Amino acid sequence: MDTPFSTLIRVASHEAHTEAETSTFMSDLLGGRLGVDAYTRYTEQLWFVYRALEEAAEALRDDPVAGPFIQPELMRTAELERDLAHLYGGAGGHPDGDADTDNGHGNGNGNGNGDWRTGLTPLPATAAYAARIAECARDWPAGYVAHHYTRYLGDLSGGQIIRDRAEKAWGFACKGDGVRFYVFEEIPNPAAFKRGYRELLDRVEVDDLEKQRIVEECKRAFAFNSAVFHELGARFPLSA
Ligand code: HEM
Repeated sequence: MDTPFSTLIRVASHEAHTEAETSTFMSDLLGGRLGVDAYTRYTEQLWFVYRALEEAAEALRDDPVAGPFIQPELMRTAELERDLAHLYGGAGGHPDGDADTDNGHGNGNGNGNGDWRTGLTPLPATAAYAARIAECARDWPAGYVAHHYTRYLGDLSGGQIIRDRAEKAWGFACKGDGVRFYVFEEIPNPAAFKRGYRELLDRVEVDDLEKQRIVEECKRAFAFNSAVFHELGARFPLSA
């Protein structure tokens, strides 16, 4: 009954985590079976998600529940923009010789001049995810915390595995352009940072019912991520 909130939320989302982690798209991506175009599409989706998270951040800075979580060293939008400029600029090379992974669903922005924003639209699942984050930020800061936790603590954890695989699969420089999203320059000790983050979770001052609602929103956040993977997977099927 006195389970720390950080434990509650981790345990409650464990199953959803396994589901997201082992999704076909993630497995194929991390298994090196997809081309850099799939990685680019995925990075684009992240950009929409982090814009929603971070556009709301300033307004939540003084919120009693969400405020303590707003930390500049976590912000990812600038890093994603740098990665996308690199991915579109083509400087990272496109060692993707596998025609099956390029099924014509590119968005036509790969014009090599880094103007990746033009015409960029989110997948339906991404749009729904970003809209939900914005809604929480506006109407329910405690719900925003669920989304904040799901993304940033994940990036500080499994994100490092993704970076390593991406560097190897598509030849990005170690911690360089293309994978900057996964590099938290201002967090030299992620394990210590995560401990501090869990302490913040444990100090959230809401009643048990509200904690339960946050946990449910966290599961929803994972479900949004799985839905994005699902839609990406449909666009990048492996040939049988
Ligand atoms: C293949 C993809 C993934 C891998 C390999 C992975 C791996 C990991 C690992 C190893 C940890 C444990 C870190 C620790 O104990 O300190 C972790 C934690 C976490 N992951 Fe993932 N993960 C992946 C995908 C995801 C996704 C898609 C999300 C949600 C968007 C996510 C959210 C989280 C969260 C919130 C935690 C922190 C749990 C906690 O300690 O409270 N992960 N992940």
